[in-house]
Amino acid sequence: MLRTHTCGELSADDLNADVALCGWVDTYRDHGGGLFIDLRDRFGLTQVVFGPDTAEGVMQLARKLRAETVVRIEGRVARRPEGNENLKLPTGAIEIRASTMEILNQSLTPPFQLDATEETGDLAGEDLRLKYRYLDLRRPIMQQTMLLRHRMIKLMRDYFDEHDFIDVETPVLGRSTPEGARDYLVPSRVHPGSFYALPQSPQLYKQILMVAGYDRYVQVARCFRDEDLRADRQPEFTQLDVEMSFVTADDVIGMIDGLVAKLAKEILDLDVPLPLPRMTYDEAMERYGHDAPDLRFEMEIVDVTPWAGKTDFRVFQSVATSGGRVRGINAKGASDRYSRKGIDELTEYVIQDFGAKGLAWFKVEASGNLASPIAKNFQAEELAEVASAFAAQPGDLLLLVADSFEVSSRALSGLRVRLGRELELYKPGQMHFSWVVEFPMFAFDEAENSWAAMHHPFTAPRTQDIEQLQTDPGACRAIAYDLVINGSEAGGGTIRIHDQALQQQVFELLGVDEKMAADRFGFLLEALQYGAPPHGGIALGIDRWVMLFSGLENIRDCIAFPKTQRASDLMTAAPGDVDSRQLEELGIKIRR
Ligand code: AMO
Ligand code: AMP
Repeated sequence: MLRTHTCGELSADDLNADVALCGWVDTYRDHGGGLFIDLRDRFGLTQVVFGPDTAEGVMQLARKLRAETVVRIEGRVARRPEGNENLKLPTGAIEIRASTMEILNQSLTPPFQLDATEETGDLAGEDLRLKYRYLDLRRPIMQQTMLLRHRMIKLMRDYFDEHDFIDVETPVLGRSTPEGARDYLVPSRVHPGSFYALPQSPQLYKQILMVAGYDRYVQVARCFRDEDLRADRQPEFTQLDVEMSFVTADDVIGMIDGLVAKLAKEILDLDVPLPLPRMTYDEAMERYGHDAPDLRFEMEIVDVTPWAGKTDFRVFQSVATSGGRVRGINAKGASDRYSRKGIDELTEYVIQDFGAKGLAWFKVEASGNLASPIAKNFQAEELAEVASAFAAQPGDLLLLVADSFEVSSRALSGLRVRLGRELELYKPGQMHFSWVVEFPMFAFDEAENSWAAMHHPFTAPRTQDIEQLQTDPGACRAIAYDLVINGSEAGGGTIRIHDQALQQQVFELLGVDEKMAADRFGFLLEALQYGAPPHGGIALGIDRWVMLFSGLENIRDCIAFPKTQRASDLMTAAPGDVDSRQLEELGIKIRR
């Protein structure tokens, strides 16, 4: 070994030891008499002093050091002079009095400051950081996040191992596994004109493993989805993928409850009471306007449609009497927080981002009266009635949207999340875990004029809803469950269809006719006829878990080598051109 210790290891217990350290020059200070560097590796920082006793040759070499030079230093551990200790560092009581030094490698001047942070505001732009990801990954916060990710995955693997799960790898080159996104395709050289699809998830393989009798499967699986990217989505991401045989939804949920409690305890030292709370999809949509509600704070949606229908305010009355909804939220104590201009911004937000037609508002005055430009459209009793529906108190701000159920849900849920953040309705580090269950089986796709699977086409309907598959697909509820952490979908799973005829029926409903089904999923339909056990499972989004457990807001900060919002890797410049020979071999011609 080139070193005797890491840069995070030495303390006052090691006084007078002769040691060798390797690392990067983090900071460099020349104080005339002495030359100080902080030597850094992923374990920490250690102060090294080139002082009056250091040989002149070594001193000269030390003067040539620059940030990020890689060095090896030999020296003796000494106590820092009184008053110079750094209590924030584990190594802060000591320093190394250098006797020799070797420069292992030089470094160009980094294109950005490695000790910059989000807080100090001098952090380089993300594109630059992604291009020089190896430098970005040297930053302590990045190293902490990667370490956290490692620990979380280790805890997950251990947990499932303790519960008799076995880790089975499934192929990356395969047939399309639909999860609602576009596939990434890989052309086959051996079969010109044919393509593999990268898995959107290991869904079909894990079900086949249940048919094969590999009850209790787990895998840390890479998934690929060509979809529009957002702050919490990557084209390539990692799932903790799980499948179990002979189980009900309660069994799968219970298994994941245990995992949540374990990680919350080990990582955050939080005691999470079990079972985690559950709410149906319908309830979540009514009360929060979203299927993954942020339950760190209340601010529930209040429906005042019947009231609105009786008023003479046309905007409300017409929506209420034509099948729409008039709903709102009470931003408690927020009436002073939002000026006219502030409310205009909120209005613009719901119109631009969620397609609402407007935002009606009332400020509750000290007298209890409701003040608003639209107040004149209502009788005094009507205002009193709506105030009471919202349990309004002086200082509150009521915000209402009149629209279809879908638009009012989107707008109010978006508004709710924004207000929660702006009004600081939850504390940094606060966590909320819950389940949303009983999703609809299908959602109607207006553009395609057909039903689409809400989760995926292999999801089982509730037994009591099977009859409705023919008559009223929209009313069918699935045995499906999503894990929600702080308003983010952190996992999703279902009990599967294990009956071939029922699977065929669901395919038909989704517009997959017998021939297409046989072509794309023939192997599954066949396998279901060879003694497929009842089974179900779940997949957790590991990148999102890391993001939520670390309090970061960008999934890219939780992945060592992520892609940009435009799905490129700025460091390797992928995707890139390939040479014409490769294309020819694949039988592919590019149309520019
Ligand atoms: P689903 O599509 O809900 O289910 O995915 C499971 C979880 O994976 C995470 N996730 C993502 N994370 C980052 N970037 C993405 N683009 C992305 N897409 C999804 C989410 C999500 O909850 N086969 C089913 C699971 C099952 O039924 O067992 C599936 O893939 O946290
Ligand atoms: P208008 O009558 O269109 O001038 O609207 C009067 C007020 O009602 C304005 O503050 C609008 O923002 C608001 N408003 C208009 N349409 C809606 C709607 N669909 N839902 C809630 N508020 C609305």
